[in-house]
Amino acid sequence: MADKVAVVTGSNKGIGYATVRELYKRGVKYVYLTARDVQRGQKAIENLKQEGWNPLFHQLDVTDKDSVKIFAEHLKQKHGGIDILINNAAISSSNFTETSYEDSVRVIDANYFSILTIQEYIFPILNDSARVINISSDCGHISNLRNKYWISRLTKVDTKQGDVNAFVNWFLDSVKNGTLDQEDFQEMPLLAYRISKIALCALTRVQQKEVGRNISVNSLHPGFVKTDMTKTTGFITIEEASKAPVYLALDVDQSVKGKYFWYDKTEREWADPNQKLHCTYEVIDKCLRELNQA
Ligand SMILES: NC(=O)c1ccc[n+]([C@@H]2O[C@H](COP(=O)([O-])OP(=O)(O)OC[C@H]3O[C@@H](n4cnc5c(N)ncnc54)[C@H](OP(=O)(O)O)[C@@H]3O)[C@@H](O)[C@H]2O)c1
Repeated sequence: MADKVAVVTGSNKGIGYATVRELYKRGVKYVYLTARDVQRGQKAIENLKQEGWNPLFHQLDVTDKDSVKIFAEHLKQKHGGIDILINNAAISSSNFTETSYEDSVRVIDANYFSILTIQEYIFPILNDSARVINISSDCGHISNLRNKYWISRLTKVDTKQGDVNAFVNWFLDSVKNGTLDQEDFQEMPLLAYRISKIALCALTRVQQKEVGRNISVNSLHPGFVKTDMTKTTGFITIEEASKAPVYLALDVDQSVKGKYFWYDKTEREWADPNQKLHCTYEVIDKCLRELNQA
């Protein structure tokens, strides 16, 4: 492996943490484990060191412009540029079944607007032929939406960042004004999270069209994974879930661009609402109830 430089956001735990380890296992020389909280980050670094890996660490809060800017400057100074960027950091809705305005703002900021900050400061230091992997979700598939206007506006060939921003702002305004119409959505639980991840998938396609320099930008549903985000329910482990992001970072052909992937490494059609790949909350709820009974 040529001396590649990789960055994984939100990697002090969960899928991001396992992805750092998998990148090292696969021979990437410089892998940045990043965390918004330095102590949590250092603890994760210590754990990986005990396993024999030697990850690099930098503080990174993706919702804090200054933090992203300082990290980008560090990367530029130390390495000139980076080859792999895995946008993994995210939060879920605090209450899975209720949608409040404050919580929706928090989720959309962390999962969508943060990516625009990263685009502003970290995209300029991507090396030619770099790879960006946006960790989305099955909650991000277009079939989570029923509103025909937004399906059309987000999936047209010339969708722009402004269209995606308009989509998330439409959602936030609807929550604020109490005009949310459940006919617009496939399911109501985890709604702000769904909106943030749909927006991320739509943005992935916009970024791909605009980035140039043979850089690839793809999005990925990492599976239903046992992490803190899912209250430790799920069907696969973080180790299993780390394989697909690393496949997109190292193995898939460089010509694969602007696509949506599934955790089994197969490509799925993101823009087709008839694919019915949306997240079914009933499955999550059943797992949570089983967990509570155990
Ligand atoms: N688990 C699943 O079943 C599942 C399914 C579909 C998609 N995903 C996606 O997979 C990715 C990883 O999720 P996970 O399940 O591994 O979740 P997790 O265990 O909750 O880990 C999330 C990571 O993101 C970090 N983070 C949150 N906000 C941040 C911020 N503002 N700046 C920097 N880091 C921040 C967290 O740091 P702290 O420790 O400081 O909170 C943590 O390290 C997410 O994008 C998630 O949406 C997960």
